[in-house]
Formats: sequence, C-alpha cells, structure tokens
Amino acid sequence: VWRFAADHGVIPVAVAVDEHGLEADRLERAQVQAVLLTPAHQFPLGGVLPPDRRQQVLAWARHHRAFVIEDDYDAEYRYNRQPIGALQGLSPDRVIYIGSASKILAPALRLGWLAAPPSLLPALIYHKRFADFGSPLLEQLAYAEFLRDGGLDRHLRRMRIVYRRRRDALISALARHLPAWRPVGEAAGLHLVTTLPPGLTEQLVVQKAAARSIRVYPMRDYSQRRLKTSALVFGYGFLTEEHIERGIVELAKALSKD
Ligand SMILES: Cc1ncc(COP(=O)(O)O)c(C=O)c1O
Repeated sequence: VWRFAADHGVIPVAVAVDEHGLEADRLERAQVQAVLLTPAHQFPLGGVLPPDRRQQVLAWARHHRAFVIEDDYDAEYRYNRQPIGALQGLSPDRVIYIGSASKILAPALRLGWLAAPPSLLPALIYHKRFADFGSPLLEQLAYAEFLRDGGLDRHLRRMRIVYRRRRDALISALARHLPAWRPVGEAAGLHLVTTLPPGLTEQLVVQKAAARSIRVYPMRDYSQRRLKTSALVFGYGFLTEEHIERGIVELAKALSKD
C-alpha cells in the first residue's frame, strides 16, 4: 500500500499503532488528508479499534474534511465473537469502505468493492476505468449468483471452522514446541503474530526457517520504523493442521541446534 500510494503521487505518512490499532490522537499532528485503516483487525498486529478511537478518527475526519479509507479485510473470519461493525455505517460521507473476495474466497479472483461518499463517485469511476478498463465480468456475475443463493454464507460458516482449527493447531504447536514465543492478534483472520524472546532476531529465525522450506515473515517488513520487539507473522490460512504442526516442530529443531 505504501509503495502503491507513493507511485501514484501520494505522500504516505506512518502513524503509530499499538495492540489496539491506530493511535488516533496522533492523526492531528500527522497533517494528512486521508487515513487508511484496518479497524476490524489491525494488519498485521490484530487489534480491534476500540469505540473511543473510532469516534476520534471520525471526529478528526469531519473536522478536517478528510477521508477515512476502511479496509475491512478480515471482518468475516472472527473466532471469538460476532463480526465487528464497520466505521462506514457511522459516517458514510467521510468513510470509503473497501472489501475484496481475496480473504473471503480466493485472491485469484481479483474482485473487490467499495462504498464511497457520492461526491467521490465521478472521480472513482474515471480512475477505475483508466486503471484497468474494468474488472472481469464473468467472475462478477458468478460471485453475484454465489451471494444471492446463499453460497457465500455457507462457505463462510464452513471456512470459519476450518480456519479456526488451523489457528488452534498453530497456537497449540507454538505452546508445545516454542513456548517462549507469544502469539498476539489471534482472535481473527488468517495470520497471527508472535513476539520472539530476547536474543532471537527476526533475521535468524527467517533464515533458519527458509533453510527448511518454512516461510515466516519478519515484522520489520510491515513497519516503517525500527521496532523495539522482534516478532514474526505466521500465515496459516492455506496450511493443513498436519503441515502446521510439522512446520513448528521443524522450526523448533532448527533453532535448538544453535
Ligand atoms: C491488510 C489487507 N487488506 C486487503 C487484502 C486483500 O487485498 P486484495 O484484495 O488486493 O487481494 C489483504 C490481503 O492479503 C490484506 O492483507
């Protein structure tokens, strides 16, 4: 997103997040015209933006006539409670809501949607047209049919159970084989973050993992600033429970050889 914005003439500004998501009181000082947020599940730390911060973001947007871009990317896969309401419903004239089929169904579809304030529609239609000359029509029709006949709801209900089992398998394997690694942000989505114990660097773990064909992602790839804590991002959406267990066992073995 950072690179995409910069390539399109927008100057991106990093704003700090904590375990609850965006530190909303920092927006004022950032002097920006729009903010991109993942309030349902901060990417990648996993916090849910609390109600007071939601109000703060919306008040900031109203006061500065700024826009909030709400990337609602993980709302459907929440394991501890009902999906969380979108910001967009609270302020439809300031929030541009974006969603896509990537996490819900398959990233290969390349289908997405947005709900934007009507004043932005002419510009959005113009830029969308010249960005790609339109999204694939047959896939859109098939997706619409899938929505209409309840197929998507059935798929989500089924996959919520499958992904939850995969998440539980990862948490359980970490607890047994790498107990000092602390999972965070695991209540939703298809990934989680673990903090590493002191003395272990992200680079070392990523290298050792890669040598055994295991891919984990260093937290520093997701941050514009140097972080005080080392952490890794684990994606579990496309792995079976057996693969998850095997991966963590292998990783623990690789690290114990030091
Ligand atoms: C934070 C976030 N937003 C959105 C998406 C979906 O992106 P796209 O719809 O371009 O595939 C992802 C996918 O990985 C993501 O991590």
